[in-house]
Amino acid sequence: MVSDIANPRQTVLVTSSSDSKDDIITLDWHMPTSFKPLMYAISVGKTRYSRKLIEQAKVFVVNFMPIHTEKEVLFCGRNPGEHVDKFKETGFHRVEGEKVDCPRISEALAFLECEVVKEIETGDHIIFVGNVLHKDWNDTGKRLFHTGKDDFTTTKD
Ligand SMILES: Cc1cc2nc3c(=O)[nH]c(=O)nc-3n(C[C@H](O)[C@H](O)[C@H](O)COP(=O)(O)O)c2cc1C
Repeated sequence: MVSDIANPRQTVLVTSSSDSKDDIITLDWHMPTSFKPLMYAISVGKTRYSRKLIEQAKVFVVNFMPIHTEKEVLFCGRNPGEHVDKFKETGFHRVEGEKVDCPRISEALAFLECEVVKEIETGDHIIFVGNVLHKDWNDTGKRLFHTGKDDFTTTKD
């Protein structure tokens, strides 16, 4: 698996919403792509329910999570969202986005509210490139990095 050499990677949760249905997907594959304007890209598998919601609504939020949320992060990464309310099942608190019609996760250390400006097909994934319309972070907190399978590590104090 590529994760054997590409990891550890920071794991994020991406929230999406369309037609009053919300979803949360766990992602290792994501990156900043521009300083000015600030842009951020995520790579979402074609079969994911989140792909459908992001394609419809053209917005998403990247939520950077603390290490202590690893159980909930694995839940969001192991359960397709079509018939599951992941906010309810994880207990994460939903906060309305400020600049996008999409919720974010209150427990996140940082978040980026993004509007999709480009979609790139890449094998079995779609890269959604987003313009960051609103962001916030607090620099305290140990972030979550996926080493492989069910294992995570974190940043130093
Ligand atoms: C640690 C971890 C990292 C993951 N990274 C990605 C990723 O970068 N891209 C992706 O499409 N799926 C990734 N997945 C798988 C999705 O999170 C998983 O298929 C999820 O159930 C999809 O949810 P959805 O169908 O509600 O969108 C990852 C899963 C885990 C546990």
